[in-house]
Amino acid sequence: MKTYKIKDPFNLVIFGASGDLAKLKIFPSLYSLMEQKRLPKDFNIIGYSRTKMSREEFQKIFRKSIEKKHKSDLNEKILDQLIKKVHYFSGQYDQLEDYKKFKNEFLKTLNGKDKLTTIAYFSVPPVAFKPIIENLGKTKDEKDDLRLILEKPFGEDTKSAQELFHFVARYFDEEEVFLLDHYLGKTAVQSILNLRHSNRLLNLMMKGPEISNIQITAFENIGVKERAGYFDKVGTIKDMVQSHLLQILALVTMSIPITDDAKSLHREKYSILNAMEFIPSEKNIVLGQYDNYKKEKGVPKDSNTETFAALRLFIDRESWYNTPIYLRTGKSLHKKHTYVAIQIKKFAFQPKDEDPNQLIIELQPDEKINITLINKQGISSKHQEVVTSDSIACEGDDCLPEHSLLLLDVIRRRRLHFLSFPEIIATWQLTDKIINFIKRKNLKPEKYKTGSKGPSSQKDLTEIDNFKWEELE
Ligand code: BG6
Repeated sequence: MKTYKIKDPFNLVIFGASGDLAKLKIFPSLYSLMEQKRLPKDFNIIGYSRTKMSREEFQKIFRKSIEKKHKSDLNEKILDQLIKKVHYFSGQYDQLEDYKKFKNEFLKTLNGKDKLTTIAYFSVPPVAFKPIIENLGKTKDEKDDLRLILEKPFGEDTKSAQELFHFVARYFDEEEVFLLDHYLGKTAVQSILNLRHSNRLLNLMMKGPEISNIQITAFENIGVKERAGYFDKVGTIKDMVQSHLLQILALVTMSIPITDDAKSLHREKYSILNAMEFIPSEKNIVLGQYDNYKKEKGVPKDSNTETFAALRLFIDRESWYNTPIYLRTGKSLHKKHTYVAIQIKKFAFQPKDEDPNQLIIELQPDEKINITLINKQGISSKHQEVVTSDSIACEGDDCLPEHSLLLLDVIRRRRLHFLSFPEIIATWQLTDKIINFIKRKNLKPEKYKTGSKGPSSQKDLTEIDNFKWEELE
């Protein structure tokens, strides 16, 4: 496959350009694109924020964020070239006048008479979404090629997400809006789709009647750091499960779409997400909070926000009848590790304590797929295994951080690795059900040690069905 390079000039306007997401993810992604020569000769990166500062001051922030990320492998010359493309506009998000000035004066000075594709990246807290959408919508001409990138979280429950999407639809067509979950930009997550699309054999295995259980683990070793203000209001279920984990689950369990276009994929993902079932029972949920959480700056001393969650779900489909799905994710754990384990059913004569045949897809930090097949049954549960292992990591020029890959997709109008409105609503409906249950039962998180593997009661969740969490080294 030929490496894609952007040919036409464009403007990238980053709203919330002085915030964390921009500094940690977006600016370094632009450097990676520049380093790999994926950007055209003419383009502009424009920071739009409320903070008053000069272009030079913004360029300094931009430079620093990239230097921090690329300590050892920084190419100063490339960075200097990139910095020349960086501009800054200070404006309010809710002032129409500022947008008019931005479009009719600032952009005109930069672009002259040319009408460039303009990408508006929303790197702002959710409360700022609506005013920016409204003002961009009001200042947009019919001939403008304006595309919006909205990054999760999309609302905070079903109702607010629906409101947000109705609001967007007042001003923009669906094709102009790209809903971003950065996990879908990870090459290893994308490879789930590739694996399933290219392997009939694998797909025969990955069907409800063949699978005994599915487990998704997403451990993080970092705590909430300076994001406590946001995190304490949402918790792990809304922050990680509603988006990243359910997306991975959808890719693993959906039916193979009839074509490989975005519409078919979104339809299949929606269909399976809509069938996900949480049975409201304390047996199906474990919440945890790391021991130092309440000492973090900005966390209330009486906070009951979960920093760890494990869930037992089902899929409301005949073909997935009684196949448990276990999800677990948490912060301040022993290490960063994200993987999916798909365990295959046993024959009646197979020893119960024998390890199962299984497919393991490791997503982070290593990217690899492992298939374990038992080829000999042994006496007293000893057996031999055939292990097939392959790296699914990208190579050479194809390796780009998730935000870089997704930005290239926006330019190409490729929607495969973005979300659709109905999928997001389906994940919020499931999430609301879980959150309402927690509130109704007044469930409190169990304490766990920083650097541990999380609350000990997570094992109860899988033991109900006589399974064990797959613990990878
Ligand atoms: C974000 C969450 O969406 O994903 C964070 O808001 C989490 O809380 C992060 O730390 C994890 O992303 P990654 O790419 O580091 O696995």
